[in-house]
Amino acid sequence: MMDLRGRDLVSMDDLTAEELWAVLDFARDLKRRGERADRPQPLSGRTLAMIFEKPSLRTRVTFEVAMYQLGGTSIYLAPQDAQLGTRETIPDAARNLERWVDAIVARTFAHSTVVQLAEHARIPVINGLSDWEHPCQTLADLLTVYERFGGFRGITLAWVGDGNNVCHSLLLGAAKVGLNLRVATPPGHAPEPEIVQNAERQAQTNGATIGQTIDPAEAVRGADVIYTDVWASMGQEQEHTQRVRLFRPYQVNAALLRQARPEAVVLHCLPAHRGEEIADEVLDGPQAIVFDQAENRLHAQKALLAMIL
Ligand code: CP
Ligand code: NVA
Repeated sequence: MMDLRGRDLVSMDDLTAEELWAVLDFARDLKRRGERADRPQPLSGRTLAMIFEKPSLRTRVTFEVAMYQLGGTSIYLAPQDAQLGTRETIPDAARNLERWVDAIVARTFAHSTVVQLAEHARIPVINGLSDWEHPCQTLADLLTVYERFGGFRGITLAWVGDGNNVCHSLLLGAAKVGLNLRVATPPGHAPEPEIVQNAERQAQTNGATIGQTIDPAEAVRGADVIYTDVWASMGQEQEHTQRVRLFRPYQVNAALLRQARPEAVVLHCLPAHRGEEIADEVLDGPQAIVFDQAENRLHAQKALLAMIL
């Protein structure tokens, strides 16, 4: 198995294409072995600290279950517990944690918080979502697309909605595995140019294309996968009303889905705000595979943990 021991996953770009493929391959292997008696428990005696500045269902539960299934354990620190940078400096928190635990997952507002943790802790640090990226989500997303289509070559994913954290990691991940991406965002909400340029460079090497538009129909036309995310991310609640107005034409509903290929599937990182970025008819319809996608968070993160720890 490829040796990733000691590595951080702060950005999707922390993994090379080859390393990303290795994580995805191992995730498929672990998923196949899921309930069987030969389920490996390589993390016996190991502990994961999980520092969360924002709420979570999927990320928290899948990391806790992943550690348990791999033979280790985890400690959850709620927003009021760690208070990174307030109760003590981020480097000091990192220098404490590395003495007791074997890895850290951090869900932060500022991306710089998880970057600083990684810089100052001599143990692996995993980004469990920051305002800039959500690399663990991308691992699960790619696993889900791979399972559905048997590969990425010639497959096109249309991103419809806000071009922020989840979109950023997906851009980088898709570029590495050679999945085509078309991003449709309202003006002012496109992914950051530095991410897009980086993804374009890597996509070129890996035989994929990246496109950007403000027209959701153009992005979705003939696509194999449609992916959306909430219009107001955690921390942007005060912008909700104004964003709903701006993003309304970007709702993934039956009319938009009809523009994609008939066998297209729909992804959503969840939580979904039903009736906003996604209509019930789509989320509850036969083309949505969002719960397979959510399940894959577990398999992907088990692979990641087993490889970096
Ligand atoms: N998709 C995702 O990260 O979900 P949570 O916010 O519930 O962890
Ligand atoms: N973009 C969303 C993703 C949640 C998993 C947020 O940051 O709230």
